[in-house]
This record gives sequence, structure tokens and C-alpha cells, in this order.
Amino acid sequence: MSHAAAPREHFDRLGWLKLGPDPALADWAAAVRPLAIELVPQHRDEWLRCGGTWFAGVNILPNDGQGRIPGGPALPAALTAEIAALTGLPGWSWDRAQISVCHPGYPRRDGRDSDAAFRYRRNRDAAHLDGLLPVGPDRRRHLREHHGFILGIPLVETSPDAAPLVIWEGSHRLAARAFREILAGTAPERWGGIDLTERYHALRREIFAACPRVPVHAKPGEAYLLHRHALHGIAPWAEGAHAPPEGRMIAYFRPDPHPGEAPGWWLLDEDGARPGR
Ligand SMILES: [Fe+2]
Repeated sequence: MSHAAAPREHFDRLGWLKLGPDPALADWAAAVRPLAIELVPQHRDEWLRCGGTWFAGVNILPNDGQGRIPGGPALPAALTAEIAALTGLPGWSWDRAQISVCHPGYPRRDGRDSDAAFRYRRNRDAAHLDGLLPVGPDRRRHLREHHGFILGIPLVETSPDAAPLVIWEGSHRLAARAFREILAGTAPERWGGIDLTERYHALRREIFAACPRVPVHAKPGEAYLLHRHALHGIAPWAEGAHAPPEGRMIAYFRPDPHPGEAPGWWLLDEDGARPGR
């Protein structure tokens, strides 16, 4: 099936969708690219990981709520409208973008990753769900951030095997079902206090067994939308993959459409119904 034929069906079923190409989005990426290149060395100490092969760059882009950096364009209104239609979210203010940069050799081992964490990064793409943060010295997983969706915007052109984003197609449905089972009996105000660690690990195993792992590649002028419940990660940099000298550089947005509110909406489906069924 072509993506263009039924974008909503593709997004609902698989948990992701490529958007564009859109010349206005290409203009946005072209304006952001030089600033992103300038920001990386300034934030190296805080965000360089994996022996220098990954710059995580969370929330470093100084964009405003329309996605505008000083002197640059806003994110295209057509893109925002398309995402609103696909996600069912009425609106949001864009958060400060992450600038994620990978280099040849990713992932290289360094002192930060334990043996198990490094193996998981190399063999399982460090697959994770956004928003389930490790809390306390034992790093117990709790739902502490509530993103409406994840939007990735490539800033440079690379080969498709230069440490691409990978997604497990359909994983958002397994995840939503699991979260409903765990959270249904608790008021949304108290979800952040529930320890999800064991259920999260079991869910990942279930997804690895059931869902296809798909690398996602796009060019400047395009973007990809990920469902907020989709399991995703970063694939290793393949031998012979190519990217410009600044590396494989992607801007990621994860806006919270209801900041400060209880996260009941986080489990609603795209039609606004609580899909207990
Ligand atoms: Fe993520």
C-alpha cells in the first residue's frame, strides 16, 4: 500500500508515517542546520555519548513555540495541520528541539554504558519508549513526561544506513494495551508514581517477538511522525554508510499538548475515546 493513499490508516496501524516532501520544511531545515552545527561543540560536555559517536543534544535548539529560531521560519502550518489530523491533538506549542548527531562507528563503548546497556544498544538499538524515565538510584521506570508524538526532521542528507531511527511497527498498540491494563484502575494524577519497570521490560520482549523492526530514513524537506507509544531506537552505523562531516543530524520535537495537566489524555486513542474495548 502506498503511504499517500491512506496516511491515517498507515499511522494508526504501524505507528509512524513519513511526511513531505515540503519546500517550506526544507527551508526550515536549511535555516536550522548552521545553528545546529554551531551548537554541538558548545554542548559537547553535557551531551556527548558513546565514545564521541553520539551527541544526544536534548532540547538544545533555541526555537520558540512555532518552531522558529532567531531569523528563521516557523515550522510549516501545513505540517502542523497534518500532524493534528493524524494524532487527533487540537494543538500544541513546539518544545525546544533535540539535535541528535551520530558519527561513524556508533555505538562505541565508553564508561557510561554498563556491559548490558552497551549490548542492548548494539544488538537492540537501545530501543525505548519516550517518557518512561529512570527514577532514583535503581533507575525504576516511571511515566514522567507526556509527549503528544515524536517528530523527526533530518537536517542533512545521509545514506539510509547512517545510524537511522528504527521503529517496531505496530508496537504502539501493544504498548497502549499494556499501559491500559496497568494504569486503568488509578487516577491519572497518580500514574507518575507507579513503578512500570517489570511491565516495561516484559512489553519490550513481547514487541521484539511480535513486531517488525523497520529503519526509517528521510531527506531534508521530509519528516517522520512517530506515535507516542511506539518503541524506537537508533540503529548502529553501518560499514560504508556516509554522511557529511558534521554527521547524521536530526532535529526531534516532542511537544506536550497539555502541559501541567493530568495525563489521562495520554492513553486516549486518536478519536479521543478511551479505547478500553
Ligand atoms: Fe526516543
